[in-house]
Amino acid sequence: MNYTPLTHMAFGYATSQILHAAVRLGVPDALAGGPLPAAKLAAGTGCDPEGLARLARALVVLGVLAETDDGYALTELGRPLCTGHPASLRTALLLLGDAATWAAWGSLADAVRLGGSAFEHAHGRPLFDHLAGDPVLSDLFGTAMGDGTGWVTAELTRVHDFSAARRVVDLGGGNGTLLAAVLAAAPRAHGVLVDSAEGAVRAAETLRRSVPPDRWSVEPGDFFDAVPPGDVLLLKGILHDWDDDRCAVLLRHCRRAIAPDGRLLILEPVVPPRAGPGAAASVLSDIAMLVLTGGKERTAAEFRTLLDSAGFALSGISGTLSGTSTRILTAVPTHIHGVV
Ligand SMILES: C[S@@+](CC[C@H](N)C(=O)[O-])C[C@H]1O[C@@H](n2cnc3c(N)ncnc32)[C@H](O)[C@@H]1O
Repeated sequence: MNYTPLTHMAFGYATSQILHAAVRLGVPDALAGGPLPAAKLAAGTGCDPEGLARLARALVVLGVLAETDDGYALTELGRPLCTGHPASLRTALLLLGDAATWAAWGSLADAVRLGGSAFEHAHGRPLFDHLAGDPVLSDLFGTAMGDGTGWVTAELTRVHDFSAARRVVDLGGGNGTLLAAVLAAAPRAHGVLVDSAEGAVRAAETLRRSVPPDRWSVEPGDFFDAVPPGDVLLLKGILHDWDDDRCAVLLRHCRRAIAPDGRLLILEPVVPPRAGPGAAASVLSDIAMLVLTGGKERTAAEFRTLLDSAGFALSGISGTLSGTSTRILTAVPTHIHGVV
């Protein structure tokens, strides 16, 4: 038996921190304009020359840098580590290796043994409460979520027809990346974004840059208290943050808020019934939810049950978007007396 793959898995945390250190120190961005010799790279990033040379060598072994006659160069695989790349992983890596999220992963065993999120075991409070008191991490979280959303918006607006939308409500809309893209594909629609006070500020900045001011509004608030009315309700990366009871509360608000001819779009991974080869991304994302939020990824059957209990019928599930594990789950309101 060759145990090398297991060894690679065991040292996976080292790979993640090597990439985190590289982006945190600005190594990929320093190489975006072309190769640099090690000494220049160290000077440009303000690093100890020996430390930087060792990090760069490790990045070569990982395949994100190459050694050329002109010094270290980014490979094709390494380009998404740079700022501004359309599939940039830079902010995701900054978030993954941040001290608070790193510590949360260290408490995974506690979450599995005792229940609750690993984040809460590590820090004594849930992620979103922590973010409310940590503006730097909150900003990083919002930007990383927005960057991840940016990977899928082009395919989302290509495969889903938003042209007839009248009022699009994005719940927990983060930094506004999704709503801005949907409004571009829904020329007659007005957009409303609900998020925390900090999220709302970030969203307004994004929307101000790309959408005329009379086409959107941002409502700081708690989506467990109320949901504004609309005919297209968006929940991207929201239900998987919460347990079934909290999701049921939110979905019942959505049911009251949605127009009779409206659609609820849930953008999330869907876990296949069996943990076969196609399940890796959604199953690993499920563990990330256990670590960070205490929520979970769900199977199609679990989504159906949850939606049904709140007065929605699941009418379709798309393929995965843009090589990510995100799918579009479309739900429509059912009209059974007494469900609302
Ligand atoms: C995982 S992020 C998803 C952000 C965005 N939908 C996206 O996919 O890019 C979850 C978002 O929900 C927001 N949020 C968490 N709890 C909330 C609440 N009770 N009311 C409103 N927004 C909330 C967070 O601030 C955050 O922006």
